[in-house]
Order: sequence, then structure tokens, then C-alpha cells
Amino acid sequence: MINSSIFNFNAELFSNENLISAFKIFLSKPIEYRTQFLQNKYVNAFDGYSFLGQEDSLNQYSTDQLHSFVFSEFTKVDSFPKEFETYLKTEFLEVKKAVTTLELILLESLNNPEFTAIYKKYFGHMMSFNFYPKVTDNNATERLSMHKDVSLFSVFPYGLDKGLAYQNTINREKNLGVKNAIFGFKGFGAQYFLDDKLKGLNHKVNYDLTDNNERFSLAFFSIPKPNTTFTFKGKTFNSETFYTTYLNLF
Ligand SMILES: [Fe+2]
Repeated sequence: MINSSIFNFNAELFSNENLISAFKIFLSKPIEYRTQFLQNKYVNAFDGYSFLGQEDSLNQYSTDQLHSFVFSEFTKVDSFPKEFETYLKTEFLEVKKAVTTLELILLESLNNPEFTAIYKKYFGHMMSFNFYPKVTDNNATERLSMHKDVSLFSVFPYGLDKGLAYQNTINREKNLGVKNAIFGFKGFGAQYFLDDKLKGLNHKVNYDLTDNNERFSLAFFSIPKPNTTFTFKGKTFNSETFYTTYLNLF
């Protein structure tokens, strides 16, 4: 299972209705309100809001056609906008638990109890929530440029709308299409921590002129908790060094 480009889990989707309403309310607030929650206001890894056109986001380019918000379990709920409080205190915990169960199934297929123990002790989750408004930039060719995620695994507990394309094992671009069940793929963390042969999936979001609709996307990322150090296969890993190595890819 771990060698496939895409992991298709036999698990029902969660509903993203409440979460999308919360994000819509947040995005309807003035920019002065929203920019109180930019990534430079948080200390933990990638947490925070990035707006469309922002020059200094950690996880998107200024030409990318989206607003995103990253929430992690490493930051106190009350540091995030109050629009998300109910979600973060309830559904987020339930979904995170389900995602962990699915990731443990993936790790089981690796048959490496040493790493599974490391995952349980040192890894946690963040959620990336992306909103792609209708594209109005005439120069835009894609909505999100090609990248690997920082995660060990990226899991989509709310399924997926059309638009996502990825490079398969022979570097051909494939459209993922609509997903109505939970799925996931490997991120940069898989090749970094586990095995360089387990390449993180390159993916992007295409812009289809004939189908220029609003689009939401939500993914859970497993990453090492901030300020952790552990040893695996005789090698010592540090979470901050890992985050920096990932950011240096861009
Ligand atoms: Fe991604």
C-alpha cells in the first residue's frame, strides 16, 4: 500500500459543512482582521492564514490563486480565530483520531515497529484548509503550483473536488478527479524520515477556464511535533531542521 501514488482508504467521508461555513465567515471579515492571524503571528511550524497574493507565505506563492489557513494541534485553540473554535474543539479531534487510525494502517504495511513507535510518540497533525475563489487573474495558468507536501502522509478526510493533478511514478501528469472516499498520499516527510525511495507526491491544482468555480480543499498532514528530536536507524532527526529542509526546497 505504501508504494502506491494514491492511498484509497475504505472509509466514509466526514462532512465539511460546518468548517466551510466557518471559513466563509472568516474570509468575509476585513483584511485588517484576517492579517492578525498570519503565519508570522504564530510560533508553531506552518500555522496561520495566507491570503491570495501574499508575498511571504510559507506554503504558497504570490501567484497561487487561493487563501489558506493551517491549524495544528500544537497551538492553543484560543490563538486561532473564534470562527473556528467550535470546529477545533470538537470535529477536529474526531477527524484527527480517524486520520491517525488510517495512517497506522499505512505504517503497518511498512512492518517497521520502530518507526511506528516514533510516529506515535513524536508526530502530530496539522490541517491545511484551502479556499480557491473564482479565478479573476487573466494571467493565471494554475490555481496552485506543483509541490510536495511537508507531511509524512497527507490525508483528505473530506474527499476532493476536481482540479488536483499529480505526477505518477513515471512522471506523467494525471488528474485525480473527484474523490468520494477518504484518500491520501505521501509527502516529503516519507522520503526524509522513512526511505528516499518513498517519494513524496508532486501535485498541483489546475485552472480550467471552462469550469471556473469556487473550490475548497482540506488535508491533514502528519508532521513531527515542534521542538522534538528522535533517533531512527541510527540517525538523529530534529523537527526544526526538517521544517527548514522542506522550506529550502522552494
Ligand atoms: Fe499540497
